[in-house]
Amino acid sequence: MPTTRPQTIALAGVGDLGKYTCEELLASPRFSVIVLSRGKQKEKWFTERQIRVYTTDYTVPSLLSILETTSTTTLISFINDPTPGYVTTHTALLTACQQSHSCKRLIPSEWIGDSETYPLKPDYYATSREPFRNTLRAQKEIEWTLFNVGWLMDYFLPARKTWMKPVPGKFPVDLEGWSALVRGSGEEVQSWTYGRDGGGGVVALCGADEWVG
Ligand SMILES: NC(=O)c1ccc[n+]([C@@H]2O[C@H](COP(=O)([O-])OP(=O)(O)OC[C@H]3O[C@@H](n4cnc5c(N)ncnc54)[C@H](OP(=O)(O)O)[C@@H]3O)[C@@H](O)[C@H]2O)c1
Repeated sequence: MPTTRPQTIALAGVGDLGKYTCEELLASPRFSVIVLSRGKQKEKWFTERQIRVYTTDYTVPSLLSILETTSTTTLISFINDPTPGYVTTHTALLTACQQSHSCKRLIPSEWIGDSETYPLKPDYYATSREPFRNTLRAQKEIEWTLFNVGWLMDYFLPARKTWMKPVPGKFPVDLEGWSALVRGSGEEVQSWTYGRDGGGGVVALCGADEWVG
């Protein structure tokens, strides 16, 4: 029976949220996953799952070498950087994809908010995500899309059942302190996404023929 080699998907900056996509990629026979990190120390979480972690300084030569060596086809960023430094790092990711022979798809790190209705929310998006979106829009060579999951349901779970660190003061429910903050009138509709479903959605997107830019 003919076998197809799994496509390599590279995930940059896997901290909390990226772990869900990592796990869903590991479960799929269509893909293999590698991780890009600034650190030299490989976290136990990755070694336990036999995930290859590549150290990078996020310069174009370093990124390009990893993409080419691994024949990566899609680069997905989970880098958590609210500063304008985000633009520099993501411009390097894009340039490396443009120079790469194999990697022609890129998802930058957004994962929060509603990019269609409120593209500049949270406030730091105006100086980080929006300038890079403009760079993406100005080019045609690399296929890209934005993935926004809304607020994660996983913050309702006890620590042993979630990869997300608690965000006291920001998330309305504090499981440790048994307190809840009511935002607005309390009547506004709020939706939530389960992290694992978000990861599954990303994997489905990796297998899709076309993306909505
Ligand atoms: N929808 C939601 O409810 C929700 C919740 C949380 C987060 N998010 C979003 O999801 C994305 C990932 O968040 P997260 O909670 O997974 O983040 P995180 O765990 O705090 O960080 C992710 C990784 O980003 C890398 N990183 C941080 N600063 C960097 C920099 N200056 N340059 C290069 N790499 C850097 C680090 O990787 P290395 O140390 O390995 O290099 C880190 O492990 C963010 O865009 C965040 O806003 C959404």
